[in-house]
Amino acid sequence: MHKNTVTALATTIFVLSILNVLSAASAADGSATAGGAAMTPVGRVQAMEKGKLKNPLSSTPEIVEEGKALYQAKTCGACHGSNGSGIHCPSLKNDAWVYGSDDDTIFRLVTLGSEKLLSKGYSRGDKEQVAGPMPGFGEAITDEQDLWKIIAYIRSLQPSAADK
Ligand code: HEC
Repeated sequence: MHKNTVTALATTIFVLSILNVLSAASAADGSATAGGAAMTPVGRVQAMEKGKLKNPLSSTPEIVEEGKALYQAKTCGACHGSNGSGIHCPSLKNDAWVYGSDDDTIFRLVTLGSEKLLSKGYSRGDKEQVAGPMPGFGEAITDEQDLWKIIAYIRSLQPSAADK
């Protein structure tokens, strides 16, 4: 009888800890925001309608520095050049934008990749023809804040940023 109670208690604790792990895992899947958990870029793109995404971060030197480190860590430079000047992919330093210069378009392009972006009703201009598509980074970047930091960094490379 006594032993049974101990076993039952141990089983309950075991089950509870498994439930805990499961709920932590589901909070990380990108769709959950409860409890202030970070949202993934994929989750954010799904949650917001077209045209509504806006960078919530102000572009301080610290944010731009963090964005630069993330740009390098996520290997964007392999295609766009370590300083954004482009290799065989579009330059991020000029005023020519393939799909558009607004936050919404850039956030979705980097999250989904160019082919998925096109399938969502965004269109490609004739500028900067390239041989291949841009891959989506919505899985590789796990926190949407990190993508906004990268975008702040890209904006800091623009010629118009020098006027500010
Ligand atoms: C495998 C190569 C590759 C990698 C890696 C890559 N991109 Fe791209 N990127 C491209 C290509 C190709 C295009 C143009 C797509 C098109 O024209 O349809 C592009 C377009 C862009 C554009 C639009 C540029 C413009 O002038 O309109 C931005 C912004 C961008 N990428 C950001 C990023 C960021 C941020 C990362 C890293 C998280 C990244 N890219 C990683 C290949 C890449």
